[in-house]
Amino acid sequence: MRSSPGRAARPAEADDEGKILLRPFDRVKIELSEESVHLLAGPGPRDPHHLPDELREVVAEALIRDVHDGPGVLVLGGFECLADDEEALRRAFLTGSRLFGDLMPQNASGELLREVRDRGTRIGEGRTTRYSDSRFGGSLHTDGAEAPLPVPDYFTLLCVHQAALGGALQLVHARDVVRELKDRPEVLDVLRQPFHFDRRGDEGPGEPPTTLKPVLFADGDAPGDSLGVTYLRQYIEVGHARPGVPDLTAAQVAALDALDALLADPALISQDRQQPGELAVFNNKRLLHGRTEFTDHGGGDRSRLLFRTWIRRPA
Ligand SMILES: [Fe+2]
Repeated sequence: MRSSPGRAARPAEADDEGKILLRPFDRVKIELSEESVHLLAGPGPRDPHHLPDELREVVAEALIRDVHDGPGVLVLGGFECLADDEEALRRAFLTGSRLFGDLMPQNASGELLREVRDRGTRIGEGRTTRYSDSRFGGSLHTDGAEAPLPVPDYFTLLCVHQAALGGALQLVHARDVVRELKDRPEVLDVLRQPFHFDRRGDEGPGEPPTTLKPVLFADGDAPGDSLGVTYLRQYIEVGHARPGVPDLTAAQVAALDALDALLADPALISQDRQQPGELAVFNNKRLLHGRTEFTDHGGGDRSRLLFRTWIRRPA
C-alpha cells in the first residue's frame, strides 16, 4: 500500500526511438494511496476537513498549478480499489470532489452526483435531453451551458466503466481559441455579446425558456480579462428557434462557425481516455470539452459510466 499521495508513477510507454511517452492525463496525475481513497470513502463527515493535511495541500497546490495556470485539468488516480463497492465509490467521489470546492445542483431536481451514460438520446433533442445522455461525439462545450451565469467553476468526472470503443475526452483551452481569433476582432466582438441559450427545461414557473449570456465573458482578476467561456452550439440553436426569440443573425452564425472550426482543429485539441478509477477535475470556465463517439460493451452492466459533479470554488 502506498502511504502518501505523490506525483504519477504510472508505467511510461516508449515510442520506436525509445522516447518516453506520457498520456496527457499522466502529466497532471496524482496517484492517491489506497489509504487515502479509503479515507475519502469513509463514514466520517462529508467534507474533506477530516482528511490529512498533506493530501489536502498536495491537491490544493495542483489545482492552482494544473487547473488554473496549466492545461486546465488535474487527475486523481487510485479509485479503482473501490471498483467492487459502488456505494463506497460514490462516497469517495463526493468527498473527493469537495476537495475542490462546494458541490452545485446539476439540474432543477437538485442532483449533486450525475451519472453520465448513454441514455439513447441525441444532443439537444426533445425538451430536456443533455449531451451527457448520449453516446455521440463532437459538439465541444462547457457544462452548465443551459444555466445562467455564474456557471460551475469546475466539473469532475470519475470513470467507473469505460466504453468498449471510443469515449476519449477532447479538450480545447479558451486561451488558444482567443489567441487564434486575435486577428478576427469582429468574431470576438460577437462572441462577447449575448446569445439565447436553451434552459433544457430547468427554468422555474413563469421564467423564460432561454437564458441570455455571452459565449466569451470577463472572468478573473485582471481588468479586461475575457477568458471565461460558456458554450454548447445546439442549445444556442434551440434557444434562438423558440417562439418570440430572434433568429440568429448572419454575423452570429459566422462567429459560431469560426469558433466551431477552431474546436475541430486537431492542432488545438488535447485528447485522452480516462481509465476506470481516475477522477479528473476540469476548469469549466477555461476548457471546452467533448468526447469521441463511443460503442458500449454488449452487456449493460459494463456500459460506459462516469460520475459527475459540478463545483463552485469557495469564495
Ligand atoms: Fe460536458
